[in-house]
Amino acid sequence: MGSFSELGLNDWLVKQCKAMGLTKSTPIQQKCVPPILKGEDCIGCAKTGSGKTAAFALPVLQKLSEDPFGIFALVLTPTRELAFQICEQFRVLGKPIGVRVTVITGGLDMNQQGIDLAVKPHIVISTPGRLASHIENCDTFSLKKIKFLILDEADRLLEDDFGQQLETIFGTLPKKRQTLLFSATSSPTFSSLMEVSDKKPFFWQQESTIATVEELDQRYVLCSADVKDAYMFHVLDKFLEKNPKSSVMIFTNTCKYAQILGMILQEMGVKCVILHSTLRQPERLASLASFKSHKVRIMIATDVASRGLDIPTVDLIINHNVPNRPKDYVHRVGRTARAGRGGTAITMVTQFDVKLVHAIEDFTNYKMKEHQAEESEVMDILTEIAVSRREAEIRLDERDFGQQKILNKRKRIIMDGEDPEAEAQRKEEVKRKFKDNNKIYKEYCERKKKKEKIIIRKEKQKTNKNKPRERPSTSVQ
Ligand SMILES: Nc1ncnc2c1ncn2[C@@H]1O[C@H](COP(=O)(O)OP(=O)(O)OP(=O)(O)O)[C@@H](O)[C@H]1O
Ligand SMILES: [Mg+2]
Repeated sequence: MGSFSELGLNDWLVKQCKAMGLTKSTPIQQKCVPPILKGEDCIGCAKTGSGKTAAFALPVLQKLSEDPFGIFALVLTPTRELAFQICEQFRVLGKPIGVRVTVITGGLDMNQQGIDLAVKPHIVISTPGRLASHIENCDTFSLKKIKFLILDEADRLLEDDFGQQLETIFGTLPKKRQTLLFSATSSPTFSSLMEVSDKKPFFWQQESTIATVEELDQRYVLCSADVKDAYMFHVLDKFLEKNPKSSVMIFTNTCKYAQILGMILQEMGVKCVILHSTLRQPERLASLASFKSHKVRIMIATDVASRGLDIPTVDLIINHNVPNRPKDYVHRVGRTARAGRGGTAITMVTQFDVKLVHAIEDFTNYKMKEHQAEESEVMDILTEIAVSRREAEIRLDERDFGQQKILNKRKRIIMDGEDPEAEAQRKEEVKRKFKDNNKIYKEYCERKKKKEKIIIRKEKQKTNKNKPRERPSTSVQ
């Protein structure tokens, strides 16, 4: 690691880093800050917790201090909580120059956001959907002069479900600007972007044999699906007994199950907060605030919390379900073992998940170890957990949780100034496009594979021709 001043950063920024406890730069910062300062576009891929935020925030702030105006930079992120976190980083690092940063995300008052945009903040941090709505519905601001477009978690943003919103946003941006893409996992889109852009972006990817962080201890607990909750509770309980000061994030795949797990833990006397997309935004922010401030040490979340969130006290990640996409696994477990610290990830694996675990292990190139659970202790809590779960399900059904979710979603769409029917049609269209693109991509991969096979065969034929012929064996059996 080198010093920040070696990267070409001004003294005020170096001082500010020092004040935040950052004395030496990380590899992604060393590699990406100088080319960004030089004016190049940049694609940076480095593992979770490696300091990518400062790698783009520092050079943007330096450029802003040289020519301050609003709106100078636009940062896009896939999730709302991440937008707030990045805003915090910009505010702290840019305090000496009085940087004005605004967050524009769904779930919060659109009129207020319109006013915030009209007063020309230096930096706008946004999720694509809400910004696209502002662009379509209000003319109090312009992004025509921005100098920087930053996509944090770029691979996620460039997946197809954000496609139309990004199109709307990109349509209003100037051609002459610097574009910076950052993520812990890359995407085939990055290579196509490199090919199509006229000025070749600077590209840096951290080399490593494994996709996850070296300091992370990765384990699995094998159990039958019908007793998974009891095993999970047992694992959590044991960990908290040994690590009373640690924080734990539990990931599960649906909002309803996050809610059920929360109710089970409450019933078992364990305090926790919940974060998922059907909660109202103030509730989501309040959950995160109590977790970050260590008021509550357990957070149960869906994948809305799997990308980018930086909570240094998190020492354990529990995957209540095995994620379908290996990439999601990498991001989920990356919420611990950040900035050189250690951490543990324990994944609950049932008889139905073995293939998924293999896919994850192939992707990460890391073999998880088995985490032993005390079966007799699990047996002791089995009935209690099963009853709590059943009660939780009944209570949610009484509250019509699924229906409520649909209604909330429709309300949100209407509040965003959209027509829910048109939005549903748009989603169908996006899904169809995604399927088509996927088909084309699969066909392309097949063709590529065939071509490669032919080349390998030809190579083999060539080498065989050049080899001296072996004599046929003359031994008789
Ligand atoms: N040079 C540095 N020295 C020490 N700590 C650093 C340095 N740069 C950043 N950090 C700290 O490391 C932590 C992780 O940084 P950051 O959130 O930017 O990681 P990231 O690479 O964006 O991870 P993710 O892929 O999960 O989003 C933060 O707490 C940040 O303050
Ligand atoms: Mg990040």
